[in-house]
Amino acid sequence: MNIAVVGGGIRCKRLIQVIQRHEFQEIDPKVVAVADLNDDAPGYVKAKNNGLFVTHDYNDFFKRDDIDLIIELTGNMDIYNDILSKKRKTVRAIANRTAQLFWEISRVSILQKKTDQELKETRARYKMIINELIQEDVLVIAYDYKIMDINDSLLNRLGLQRKDVIGRYCYEITHHQDLPCSGEHHPCPLIETMKTEKPSQTTHIHLNRDKKKIYYSISTYPLLENGDAIGAIEISRDITKDINVQKTMMQQEKLASVGRLSAGVAHEINNPLTTILTTAMLIQEELDPQDPNYQELETITKETLRCRKIVSSLLDFARQSTPARKPCDINDIVNESVVLTNKQAAFKDLTLSFEPGTGIPHVLLDKGQIQQSVINLIINAVEATEAGGTISISTAYKPELETIEIAVSDTGEGISENDLVRIFDPFYTTKDTGNGLGLAITHGIIEQHNGTIGVESKLGQGTIFTIKLPVTPGVIHAAS
Ligand SMILES: Nc1ncnc2c1ncn2[C@@H]1O[C@H](COP(=O)(O)OP(=O)(O)O)[C@@H](O)[C@H]1O
Ligand SMILES: [Mg+2]
Repeated sequence: MNIAVVGGGIRCKRLIQVIQRHEFQEIDPKVVAVADLNDDAPGYVKAKNNGLFVTHDYNDFFKRDDIDLIIELTGNMDIYNDILSKKRKTVRAIANRTAQLFWEISRVSILQKKTDQELKETRARYKMIINELIQEDVLVIAYDYKIMDINDSLLNRLGLQRKDVIGRYCYEITHHQDLPCSGEHHPCPLIETMKTEKPSQTTHIHLNRDKKKIYYSISTYPLLENGDAIGAIEISRDITKDINVQKTMMQQEKLASVGRLSAGVAHEINNPLTTILTTAMLIQEELDPQDPNYQELETITKETLRCRKIVSSLLDFARQSTPARKPCDINDIVNESVVLTNKQAAFKDLTLSFEPGTGIPHVLLDKGQIQQSVINLIINAVEATEAGGTISISTAYKPELETIEIAVSDTGEGISENDLVRIFDPFYTTKDTGNGLGLAITHGIIEQHNGTIGVESKLGQGTIFTIKLPVTPGVIHAAS
């Protein structure tokens, strides 16, 4: 049976190889002609190298009388219909889909041709690979994106059963899409591996149920059969934690270097500021309050004091001293912070509520520093929330994580995704009168306590900051 193939891609090449390698007793198929517009298409090239008839126009097939079967591999139904309308009655034609079936069956027959012993060894080796990588998600994908195998780890994560997955398209199962992955954020590593027959790596960003970014590192390795890639083993790993750790480390490094710089600058600025301030005050004392210069000097004094305040915040931020820790009741600290900020909230007609957690053990903390942190968060919340809004503060003990948590949430303007990554940067502010140090200082303090501070926010939907502090083992005092 002489076959002509329309579409000289990788599958055409595979088809030629499979047919060459195996005896199909009854039909004895032979590829005799290949059509493709592209001179570099792998199947086209192979056909040409094998001395077969190649052409850019499949209409040439109809001029030959030695063709029994035309296989359409481009997947274009218009071409298939065109072939059906033009071919001679005695010539058969099969479309892309059917061709795939044909190919799959022949692939199974390859496996069957192996001796039992060979088959056993192959399977054992293959099982070992899949099981060893059990921690990672493993997919075995055929060249046509169909899933040939999947490991339990991935099945569990997807909440599916093996039978629901085998034979389905990978993008259908892992991405719920109708088409293969593509584009800058979603490149398809399979295509790359099939093209180069070499391992390939990429990162996909997905959103989880809570719309949080999950980063997957995806590596594909060619699945070779007699030196040809017939598909790929795809191994994916959730690297979100690694990426977040990396981000935190970068943030810490940035804060530390800015801290050192600020400390130096702040000291340098403090002295001249004091000189300016005292000089202005001295001159002012000599003047009559009615003197026009008196008000000007008043402005100088006020602005210099403002500078001093910024400098003192800078020094706070830069302070590398370890916190002076004493056993503290976190509810007391938060309560005092709430009392201290109540006025600001009431002034803006905001509801400020505190829900203290129960059974929280006493923890070694620098009370002043933690209070400053909580106040910073509350003041920010007040500043971000319109009249009538709510600011809720709560504390909790998480025995399983050995942490205590303080959460400050507001119903305010929220923070855009772009800004979220910058809010802990020193001097980052969106306010006319802000200095951008509050969160940087808070971050520093919490870090000195070996804790973490996280934020969740969406523009227009409020913000929640969560401080997590470790309960140091051995020094826990039961809450009274
Ligand atoms: N609760 C919040 N809601 C909205 N934006 C916030 C909130 N807290 C902080 N921000 C953003 O983070 C920025 C930095 O905060 P911060 O370091 O305290 O400096 P500042 O308050 O001086 O601007 C703020 O300017 C604001 O844009
Ligand atoms: Mg602030």
